[in-house]
Amino acid sequence: MSAVNEILAQIGAAGRQEDGGYFRGCYSPEYFQAVDIVERQMQKIGMETDRDAAGNIHGVLPGNDPKAKSVVIGSHLDTVPGGGLYDGAYGVAAGLAVAKRLREEGKILRHTLEVYGFHGEESNPLGGTFGSRAIAGQVKPDQPGLAEALAAYGHNVREILDCRRDFSGVKCYLEAHIEQGDLLEQEGLKIGVVSGIVSVIRYRVTALGQSNHAGTTMMKNRRDAMVAMARLIAAADEECRKIDDTLVFTVGTIACQPGSENVIPGRVECTFEMRHMKKEKTDCLIGRIREIAAGIGTADFEITNKIDKGSVSCDSHLMEVISRSASEAGICHRIMASGAGHDANPMAHVTPIGMIFVPSRGGLSHCKEEWTSQEELESGTEVLYRTVLHLDEEAKE
Ligand code: GLV
Ligand code: MN
Ligand code: MN
Repeated sequence: MSAVNEILAQIGAAGRQEDGGYFRGCYSPEYFQAVDIVERQMQKIGMETDRDAAGNIHGVLPGNDPKAKSVVIGSHLDTVPGGGLYDGAYGVAAGLAVAKRLREEGKILRHTLEVYGFHGEESNPLGGTFGSRAIAGQVKPDQPGLAEALAAYGHNVREILDCRRDFSGVKCYLEAHIEQGDLLEQEGLKIGVVSGIVSVIRYRVTALGQSNHAGTTMMKNRRDAMVAMARLIAAADEECRKIDDTLVFTVGTIACQPGSENVIPGRVECTFEMRHMKKEKTDCLIGRIREIAAGIGTADFEITNKIDKGSVSCDSHLMEVISRSASEAGICHRIMASGAGHDANPMAHVTPIGMIFVPSRGGLSHCKEEWTSQEELESGTEVLYRTVLHLDEEAKE
C-alpha cells in the first residue's frame, strides 16, 4: 500500500463506528486519538511536532535556507457525525506522505515544510473551520455563544486567541481534499484545480406563533409556527432555484417548541444556510426570504445572521503550478470551484492558497458511503508532491 493510503488507514482507526461511518467530534476522545496517530507519524518521519489549545496538531520539516518562507499543507481531522474516512483526513495524510517521501529520497528542501491537522472544521458549537481560524487570527472573541461553548470543552477565549500565529514567514498554504461532488467523476477526470471556495452564510430563523390545543383550535384560528416555517422553507427553496443554478440553500436543523404531539407549535427555529461564489446572489436570496417571511401572516419571523464566511479565490500562480504538476504527471485535470467549505478559506486571509481535488465516487460525502480509490488518492498526492518541488525551485522570495 502506498504511504498516503497507509497513513489514511491508520487515521481511520480513530472514531470508526459499527456501521462503517466515522465520528470525530470537537475536542472528543476520538478526535484526539486521530491527533495521537498523526503526531506519531510526524515524529516517525522526523518532523518536529507541537499542539495548541485550539486542538490542532502541527509538524515541521525544516528546510535548509533560513531566508525561504514555509510551505504549509493542511486539512482537518474532525468529521461530521456518521461521516466518511476521506473528508479532511485525506489532506493530512497526503501532506504527511509528501514529507515522508522527501525524507526517504533524502531531499532537503530550501523551504520549511509544515503540515497541520486542523480541529473543528465541520459545523460545530464553536463555528466551523475553528482550528484554522484560530491560527489565522480569524476567531472573533465576541462570536455569539463562543465563550460558553469553549467553557463546556474546558477552554477559554483567551487561550484560543493566543493560538494565532505569525504568517509573515509563510509562502503559501496547500490543501488536498476529496471533491465531495461528482463533477470529476462525470467528466472522467482525476484532479480538480480549485479556483475558489464558495461563501458559507447561515441565518438563525425563528417562527413565533401561538402554542395551543391541537384538538380544540380550528384550522382557521391557528398561528402554527411549524406550518409557517414549512411555507417559508418551501418558498426559499423555489427562490434559490430561480436566482442561479449554482446557488445552494439548505435547512439542516430544526427545533420545535414545545415539541409535544398534541400542542400546536408556538416556536420553531431553523438554520438557513446558503452558499455561492458571489455575494450578490446570497444577498438576493436572503432579501427574498425576508420579504416572503413578512407576508406569511400566521407567525412572526426573526432572522439573524449567525455565520458569514465570504467566498475566497485561490492564488492564480498556485493554480498554474498545480495544473502544470498534474500535466507533467500525465493526470487529466480541470479548473473548478469548491462548493464545500475548507480550512483553506481562513488561510486565504493570511497567505496565498492552492487546493487539489480528487474524485468522490457518486459525488457522495458527509456520509459513510464516501469513497475515493487508492489510485486517485495517490494521484492527488503525486500532484501535491510535484507542486511542493516546483515551489521550492522558485526564485528566492
Ligand atoms: C464542510 O465540510 C462544509 O462545507 O460544510
Ligand atoms: Mn473537509
Ligand atoms: Mn466536511
